[in-house]
Amino acid sequence: MEGFVNPRRRSLTRVKGYKGGERSTEDTDDLSSISVGETMSNPAPDLSWIHLTNNLHHDVYPAIDPRGALKGSCRGKSVLVTGAGRGIGKAIAVAFAHAGAATIVLASRTLSELEGVRDDIASLELDRQPRVLIQATDVTSEESVRALFDTVEREHVYIDVLVNNAGHLGKTPLVHLTDPAEWWETWEVNVKGTYLPTYHLLKSIFSSNVVAPAPVTILCTATLSGPYSRFGFSGYQPSKSAINRFAEFLNAEYEDKGVRAYAYHPGGVLTKLALEGMPPETFNTIMIDKPELAGGFCVFLSAPGKYQDTDIFKGKFVSANWDVDDMVKKGKEMAGDDRERRWLMTKVLVF
Ligand SMILES: NC(=O)c1ccc[n+]([C@@H]2O[C@H](COP(=O)([O-])OP(=O)(O)OC[C@H]3O[C@@H](n4cnc5c(N)ncnc54)[C@H](OP(=O)(O)O)[C@@H]3O)[C@@H](O)[C@H]2O)c1
Repeated sequence: MEGFVNPRRRSLTRVKGYKGGERSTEDTDDLSSISVGETMSNPAPDLSWIHLTNNLHHDVYPAIDPRGALKGSCRGKSVLVTGAGRGIGKAIAVAFAHAGAATIVLASRTLSELEGVRDDIASLELDRQPRVLIQATDVTSEESVRALFDTVEREHVYIDVLVNNAGHLGKTPLVHLTDPAEWWETWEVNVKGTYLPTYHLLKSIFSSNVVAPAPVTILCTATLSGPYSRFGFSGYQPSKSAINRFAEFLNAEYEDKGVRAYAYHPGGVLTKLALEGMPPETFNTIMIDKPELAGGFCVFLSAPGKYQDTDIFKGKFVSANWDVDDMVKKGKEMAGDDRERRWLMTKVLVF
């Protein structure tokens, strides 16, 4: 085989390292020399078309501020947040506390982190402290999620808002360098971990009702980068695209039964997940949003006083970066016309 050149071999840009924030690269055609976890890069396509509004936000702003315009907007409501121990989930739990939620249920695997969030909420200056329930939960385990909902039922909590926030990114090598167990874990946490809490919530409501007694909001955490094939993200990005379709199904099956489902992007936030999985060159470019942006946006989507505006987006993908006033205006203009597009776009050739 000496002298044989595989005609399918092409060179790739390999990231050698980062010095002083600068990225150095080399072209290589030797994929076998690239170690697991090594950063590979491919150019990001122009994704500006993704944004519904020109006005984009990176931090909480007056229209979605749970301590300002949305203060008290979720008074009396019960909220369950998965992945609530840190990062975006923690900010969402705090936002609902400011918005007046009566009960906040916090779930993730690390009990000490949940205790920390419970203490943080207890130290907030609020008109009324919410009841906070915490339970160590693995969202990929049916037994564990069932136990969580058993607690919820035992405590007579009727969930009005479910935020499916728990997520996993992990290491991001090319497909042939992945660890099969870790690649699948990404799907399990992101997809099964969204399905199981949703399943148990819907089961608890519809086993005794034909229509939900009060509107129930289900927020499923997706990502803006769904339609982009970033090298190394073969587990993460497709699993998040699946969440968009799941939200579409929730809307199709339950819209007329009082359930409001959304797939949403929380922003690019430099959390543990991002620090461990995102390429360092994105830290100052994409991962520039504050977790409070997602907190305010989730409250905005869940506040009864905003249903009239946000119902237009049921079953669709929305981004926390979008200015909500412009988003609602555009949504009303476009409702029902042929500019509506599905997120999970598969390229097809049409003859
Ligand atoms: N950061 C971003 O820029 C960004 C962008 C788009 C989407 N997202 C999504 O936003 C969500 C929150 O992520 P984050 O950035 O805030 O990351 P993070 O700070 O690492 O938080 C992830 C949370 O998910 C929990 N979790 C992970 N696996 C779990 C499991 N099997 N069962 C229960 N809980 C589990 C973690 O707690 P334990 O490990 O203790 O279980 C933690 O509380 C994720 O769905 C992520 O994909 C993030």
